Amino acid sequence: MVALKHRNLKLFTIALALFAITIMSFLLNYTQNSGLVLWNPEKYFRFSGPFIRFITSVRRPCSCETCVSETEISQWFDERFNYTFSPLLTKQNNVVSENTYTWWMKLQGEKKPMDINQAIEEMFKVIPGDNNLLNPNPYRCRTCAVVGNSGNLKGSDYGPDIDSHNFVLRMNHAPTARFEKDVGNKTTHHFVYPESMRDLRDNVSMVLIPFKTLDLQWIVSALTTGTINFTYAPVPRKIKVTKDQILVYHPDFMKYIYDKWLFHHGRYPSTGILSVIFALHVCDQVDLYGFGADSKGNWHHYWENNPSAGAFRQTGVHDGDFEAEIIGNLTSINKIKVYGGR
Ligand SMILES: *[C@@H]1O[C@H](CO)[C@@H](O)[C@H](O)[C@H]1NC(C)=O
Ligand SMILES: *[C@@H]1O[C@H](CO)[C@@H](O)[C@H](O)[C@H]1NC(C)=O
Ligand SMILES: *[C@@H]1O[C@H](CO)[C@@H](O)[C@H](O)[C@H]1NC(C)=O
Ligand SMILES: *[C@@H]1O[C@H](CO)[C@@H](O)[C@H](O)[C@H]1NC(C)=O
Ligand SMILES: *[C@@H]1O[C@H](CO)[C@@H](O)[C@H](O)[C@H]1NC(C)=O
Repeated sequence: MVALKHRNLKLFTIALALFAITIMSFLLNYTQNSGLVLWNPEKYFRFSGPFIRFITSVRRPCSCETCVSETEISQWFDERFNYTFSPLLTKQNNVVSENTYTWWMKLQGEKKPMDINQAIEEMFKVIPGDNNLLNPNPYRCRTCAVVGNSGNLKGSDYGPDIDSHNFVLRMNHAPTARFEKDVGNKTTHHFVYPESMRDLRDNVSMVLIPFKTLDLQWIVSALTTGTINFTYAPVPRKIKVTKDQILVYHPDFMKYIYDKWLFHHGRYPSTGILSVIFALHVCDQVDLYGFGADSKGNWHHYWENNPSAGAFRQTGVHDGDFEAEIIGNLTSINKIKVYGGR
């Protein structure tokens, strides 16, 4: 009799626990897709710690329908994606590894480089070097549009779709003025290197991709004295970007992409693939626009009128086919969506 009572009590406790967990999960999942935090248990309950950790661990790492950083879905992805690599060079993450440095130094054959650590130190005297991008949050659904420069954007009417994302990432010379209908008019992050720098709107974050030590010195110069006007090509003496809006791509992250994703195909990764993998690490949902050839098989920029095939594909330093295959694989496992020409 006593034993039976004990068992009933045990069953009751288990049922109660399951009920509580179901209610919790329901409330947590209720925030899906909205990107809005309707109910954040950490805010209302003091018993954070193990219980909340258990509840959140059975959930996905973000509140979108699918999250880019979810693992154990594709072995191919898990072998490549390594969340511990941080895309940005910051004050807290300011060391370029020896291994990366040896490789990176050869990319553009810099003859007499300044000491890299000194260059980084001087750069962070001018720009803040904080990292406000990487704060994964199970209650967040951060959508990103990575906008490439392909001519397949022409006549696509993707503008409003692109602008509806939380982040809109663009690269190099990409203009939006006059092309809003097809490419949108919102930009949150613009990837450039000194030789591809263009004027940016006030509230756009410039993401500098450095390929040599001089590029780090150029940032300092372009914000202060304006002494550097030439690298291997002319570069702007001055830039009109707020210091707080400047982010710097980490050379170690570039090397990670070259090693783990590209398996050393090409001499170094293109701005396109650097932006896509960056987005995988920073966003919860990633949509690609303006990647690939146009419907006639031409590889030109959307702002150019005479599509001469191969304009930006056969640059000699990047392996466009291999990079396209990576994008194809990411698409087939639903990590990204590619919006092609139409
Ligand atoms: C991820 O990168 C770190 C170094 O940043 C390394 O220690 C770790 O082993 C890597 N993880 C995998 C699964 O490759
Ligand atoms: C951007 O486009 C939207 C419509 O797509 C329009 O309402 C808005 O005024 C545009 N903004 C700028 C700065 O062009
Ligand atoms: C940036 O500023 C422009 C005009 O100042 C505004 O139309 C646009 O919505 C802003 N974009 C973002 C992402 O804040
Ligand atoms: C850079 O500046 C130097 C000295 O002011 C000048 O002689 C040179 O023509 C400039 N180069 C470019 C590419 O503007
Ligand atoms: C794409 O996926 C296929 C099948 O898993 C694999 O054989 C191939 O190596 C992958 N390509 C790249 C570039 O990773």
